[in-house]
Amino acid sequence: MGRETVIVLDFGGQYNQLIARRVRECNVYCEVHPYSLSLDKIREINPKGIIFTGGPNSVYGEDAVLCGKEIFDLGIPILGICYGAQAMAHLLEGHVTTAPVSEYGKTEVEVDRSAAMFAGVSGKTTCWMSHTDYIEKAPDSFRVTAHTPVCPVAAMECSERGLYAVQFHPEVMHTVEGMTMLRNFVLNICGCKGDWKMDSFVETTIQTVRDKVGKGRVLCALSGGVDSSVAAVLLAKAVGKQLTCVFVDHGLLRKNEGDEVEAVFGPTGLYDLNFIRVNAQERFYRKLAGITEPEQKRKIIGEEFIRVFEEEAKKIGAVDFLVQGTIYPDVIESGLGKSAVIKSHHNVGGLPDCVDFREIIEPLRMLFKDEVRKAGRELGIPEHLVSRQPFPGPGLGVRIVGEVTAEKVRIVQDADYIYREELAKAGADKGLGQYFATLTNMRSVGVMGDERTYDYAVALRAVNTSDFMTAEAAHLPWEVLGTVTSRIVNEVKGVNRVLYDCTGKPPATIEFE
Ligand code: XMP
Repeated sequence: MGRETVIVLDFGGQYNQLIARRVRECNVYCEVHPYSLSLDKIREINPKGIIFTGGPNSVYGEDAVLCGKEIFDLGIPILGICYGAQAMAHLLEGHVTTAPVSEYGKTEVEVDRSAAMFAGVSGKTTCWMSHTDYIEKAPDSFRVTAHTPVCPVAAMECSERGLYAVQFHPEVMHTVEGMTMLRNFVLNICGCKGDWKMDSFVETTIQTVRDKVGKGRVLCALSGGVDSSVAAVLLAKAVGKQLTCVFVDHGLLRKNEGDEVEAVFGPTGLYDLNFIRVNAQERFYRKLAGITEPEQKRKIIGEEFIRVFEEEAKKIGAVDFLVQGTIYPDVIESGLGKSAVIKSHHNVGGLPDCVDFREIIEPLRMLFKDEVRKAGRELGIPEHLVSRQPFPGPGLGVRIVGEVTAEKVRIVQDADYIYREELAKAGADKGLGQYFATLTNMRSVGVMGDERTYDYAVALRAVNTSDFMTAEAAHLPWEVLGTVTSRIVNEVKGVNRVLYDCTGKPPATIEFE
């Protein structure tokens, strides 16, 4: 492959994929490999640069994970970050030990601006530190290029050999000038041109998938969400009719969503693939009848999804590959020492073991959500699908508090539709992390046209969040909430009260169940 590549060698740190993502932001292709990647494999990839990540161990401890010294003789520029910096120092006979004072969090670092890593960086710059060990003494041929009052070697370099190291984490946002430093490494030191773009990712992935699949048959569980849609379209472009997408409508989708998915992927849609829609609503409602406990509901939905999918897969017969839209945040890496052991996080409770397939294809495994959206746009997927907000696998099942019935699904679908429509009309949806209506299990007394009503309360939720791990309730304009409220109460039969959820996460979660 001719494309310029930088590889990240994983020593078990938390930010490995983030480093790769930052390199890709410099328009240079980047992928993560285990630290034990062989020299032969490295030569085969022929990277323009190598980055050693952080990691939880001590380079001098029994559980140290280290690569061979020969890597430094490949003539490829290397940047060590945190543990990676210490590994470099240790292997080249500097001295690493427990720091008398650990540094955690934002730290002011004094840098030598004449060093290649720090071109264009301020003399004193805020960096993110997280270490208990430190490099007490750099290896002989190295020059110290940054320090803090308690860390004598916050950065070092041996430019003759193309070796660079920083104790802090340039990849995290809190390192204010981290991107400049990484750009210095990738573009200036490694000499990358920076001409890689998402369309190259799309092209190469299509080619790779085509080579792998050959004449084989491929099966994809399509949910209509961003990730599985992008994965399906990539595969459709690569292998066309060898791909069959199974779309299970579990009756817990947003209003009109099933038809929207079919319009894009179905026989009259945009792509040349086999599309099977399974209308399994009744089946799911039957299984959910009388069930109120949230975890039990989730389990039932997950299991039923698998059963339906399996049945369809059996009708299709043996397939060679199963496609999953797993993206990086779904990937739990246990990483260390082995070629990264990963476990897939499944959208709807996990996919079947008993579907007969040879191999799983996860074309988006290294991408973050916004990168997946970019790839989707490159693939020409309609914007309303690409920019779709997250939607939980169990769907409205977790947005109907208590028992799920067809009637309640209708109520929450209609209320949610009005909410989304009005927010979009008012432009109040911009920048929101997620927003939706939930049907509470509470009924209360109201009065409509002089008549007493005893109907459900709908709760509206809108949150600002960047990672969905924490979230704050959004301050929506009162007038917009007013319009939404009167429309819901007037137009959705069975609702006489609308509430706005002001709770953050924690202590609440984003979804109600
Ligand atoms: P919570 O409710 O845990 O949700 O604060 C965090 C984010 O995850 C989504 N979510 C799910 N996504 N399968 C998914 O793919 C699920 O079972 C699931 N449950 C919650 C939720 O919509 C929010 O974006």
